Amino acid sequence: MKYRKEDLAIHGGPRAKTSPNIAMFPGGLEIGEEEKREVMEVLDAKYLFRYYGPKEAPSKVKKLEEEYARYLGRKHCLAVNSCTSALICGLIAVGVEPGDEVIVAGYTFFASVAAIVAVRAVPVIAEVDKSLTLDPEDFEKKITPNTKAVVAVHMRGMPAKIDRIMEIAKKHNLKVVEDVAQANGGSFKGKKLGSFGDVGCFSLQFHKVITSGEGGVLVCDDDLYYTRAQAYHDVAACWRKDRFAPPEFEGEIFFGVNFRMSELTGAVALAQFRKLDAIVQRMQQNRRRIKEKIGGLPGLDFREVNDEEGDVSICLVLYLPKPESAREFGEALQAEGVEAGTIYDRSVPDWHIYTHWKMLMEKMMPSEKGCPFNCPMTPRGKEIEYTEDMCPNTLGWLSRTIHIDIPPQLTDEDCNQIAAATLKVASVLL
Ligand SMILES: Cc1ncc(COP(=O)(O)O)c(C=O)c1O
Repeated sequence: MKYRKEDLAIHGGPRAKTSPNIAMFPGGLEIGEEEKREVMEVLDAKYLFRYYGPKEAPSKVKKLEEEYARYLGRKHCLAVNSCTSALICGLIAVGVEPGDEVIVAGYTFFASVAAIVAVRAVPVIAEVDKSLTLDPEDFEKKITPNTKAVVAVHMRGMPAKIDRIMEIAKKHNLKVVEDVAQANGGSFKGKKLGSFGDVGCFSLQFHKVITSGEGGVLVCDDDLYYTRAQAYHDVAACWRKDRFAPPEFEGEIFFGVNFRMSELTGAVALAQFRKLDAIVQRMQQNRRRIKEKIGGLPGLDFREVNDEEGDVSICLVLYLPKPESAREFGEALQAEGVEAGTIYDRSVPDWHIYTHWKMLMEKMMPSEKGCPFNCPMTPRGKEIEYTEDMCPNTLGWLSRTIHIDIPPQLTDEDCNQIAAATLKVASVLL
């Protein structure tokens, strides 16, 4: 159907999407009887700490770990209190040390970078490609003799090109930490995300695919990595059979912190975990429905899909020819009633884009010594500079982007209306 400019809602025409918008809390909005039952069991048993209580009770956290490990085909799983904690434990586990360089994409939530700095390693920022995940070519270019690891982020539900990343990492003897915070339940070529790297890290924060409000999970196969992750996450060493026994081998115990998951969190996470595949399937179905209806429009391009079946589909990403056309398109789509927007605008703060990571750009540390950026341990720490133009392709892609949320709770009619609104705006603006 052909519309005129005055038909657009932004110019006073009727809205194409009239159904109410649904907030993007995929698992959060599915909280129900199952979560309540699990939590009540914890309260009834008065067993709120995973390692002990007034009397023995089955641990929800342990059960969560067992089910997650089985789901991913991993030998070990450790539940922690956030994905940031999981990433820190993961980096420690694989042996990242002060002064090492760790490569990460310039488009990710800032936590992926903060975790690197938390272990006093130097983040090296690489480009994303059209899929908005790490560009393997640029990853390889950024490797130096100091590079120890890569944090491969499966961004906005999309699997990274993890086969290429693994190949390059192997060639250069690097460790791979998968950041699956935004892509829980996703896969690449039929294999679950989080099962490729040396460790995989997941988030259960409230915005994520499934949630316990806060929470995280780390998975790995290597026994030593698992031991080290446990040791770091629990300063009290409760994870050991005998907390006070001498170390069974050198390096088994060392200074840790407290990243433990509570049984209440574990209870909610367990009930949510059992809903994961169904939630992902609903988002995938919604994404397909919308995409099928708006595909093939001249002037409208889609995000590169690294794996169609493995995309968790928390959103649909479109590219417009220019940043100005993306802004105009996004505003018109919002006026039509669609939860959509552009991703990059220099003037709008967003902690997912490197140019807004003020702490990194200015190397802001709490102490004067400023480790890892200004410290004798870091061969390149002193010299490394972070500049606005260090990843031009990333900014190029992000500035032409429209992002449409796809909650699992959308009905077919909601999806039809989102597609109709997009077609309407496209027919006038493209
Ligand atoms: C890509 C990515 N990594 C890490 C995190 C950190 O997760 P958490 O809030 O559980 O620490 C997030 C959370 O938004 C994220 O999106």
